[in-house]
Amino acid sequence: MSTTDHTPAVVDSTPDRFPNPGLPPHRPRRADVDERAARRATLQVVTMFTLSALGSIAFLVAYYVIDPQTRGTIIGIGRINLFHAVLGVTMGISLLGIGLGAVHWARTLMPDEEVSEDRHPPAASEEDKQAVARQLSHGWRGSQLNRRSAILGSAGGALGLFALPLVVPVLAGLGPRPRGELYETNWQSGMRLMIDPSGAPIRAADVTQGSVFHVMPEGFVGAAAHELDPEEMMISKGKDQIILVRLDPAKIKSQKQRDWGVDGIVAYSKVCTHVGCPVALYEQNTHHLLCPCHQSTFDMTDDCKVIFGPAKRPLPQLPITVDDEGYIVAADGFREPVGPSFFERNRPGLLKGDDA
Ligand code: FES
Repeated sequence: MSTTDHTPAVVDSTPDRFPNPGLPPHRPRRADVDERAARRATLQVVTMFTLSALGSIAFLVAYYVIDPQTRGTIIGIGRINLFHAVLGVTMGISLLGIGLGAVHWARTLMPDEEVSEDRHPPAASEEDKQAVARQLSHGWRGSQLNRRSAILGSAGGALGLFALPLVVPVLAGLGPRPRGELYETNWQSGMRLMIDPSGAPIRAADVTQGSVFHVMPEGFVGAAAHELDPEEMMISKGKDQIILVRLDPAKIKSQKQRDWGVDGIVAYSKVCTHVGCPVALYEQNTHHLLCPCHQSTFDMTDDCKVIFGPAKRPLPQLPITVDDEGYIVAADGFREPVGPSFFERNRPGLLKGDDA
């Protein structure tokens, strides 16, 4: 019995080229054969890129000129915020101009050829590399950018300006560079601690164990606050707020905390050292202060050290004393910046009492 080889014979049936699947004959575009049509197409492309650039410039102007609170009525839509509407329209023009310009450029002026390419091994031969280089060079010439520098200039300008509406609002939205504001609060020696929001002063005798007072500096709360510039009032609200509590002096663990308080009454910044939420939830039994934002928890009997959560630093303590009339006053300002950490927070020479 003879053995038979069942392996099918390999037949190379790969055609050299696929037959034409029935594409219509290639017709040159008008811009390919008529220089006037090509110039007209160039002008149209330049116009669209210029329109995009104008949209970007209008966006930036509107961003700085229009009051963000401006409202107006648009027929068919109703009352809307005009600031946002204008930003949306100008950004749309900017995008549309770039998109239409690129599409029109490709359809009318870029090379319009049908090419077929043979299959080949993945590694490119030296010949292929040179062929690619020739094709790129051909494409560059076909794009006519060497002859139509106006398109190159307008496209570059449109793309360059288009980046600005994306970058400028982000940078401008960061707000002014912090100067001294983050290092100091409005608290000063002799300033009374006033109840927020009534603006009433606080007698040490009225602070019973377990009671909690939300406090602002004298002159920055109650009727006096109405005299302030609104921005100044908001900044004060953001950094001067304090929580005042009377603890059992026997439970206070730190000598510094005892020295900076009055018979167990202690005052701490309410601005969370994580990202600045008001730490206002006091748990009387545990003496824990809880930040409602991300649950950082501070131990009031241990100089407000962090015992849980993402905050990394204790809440700063405000030294207090009592004036001749029995009211609680600041013995000094804060000795360190309140609130979250920031660049340069610990730069030598900037903290209070730091002689470096
Ligand atoms: S802001 Fe307080 S825990 Fe995050």
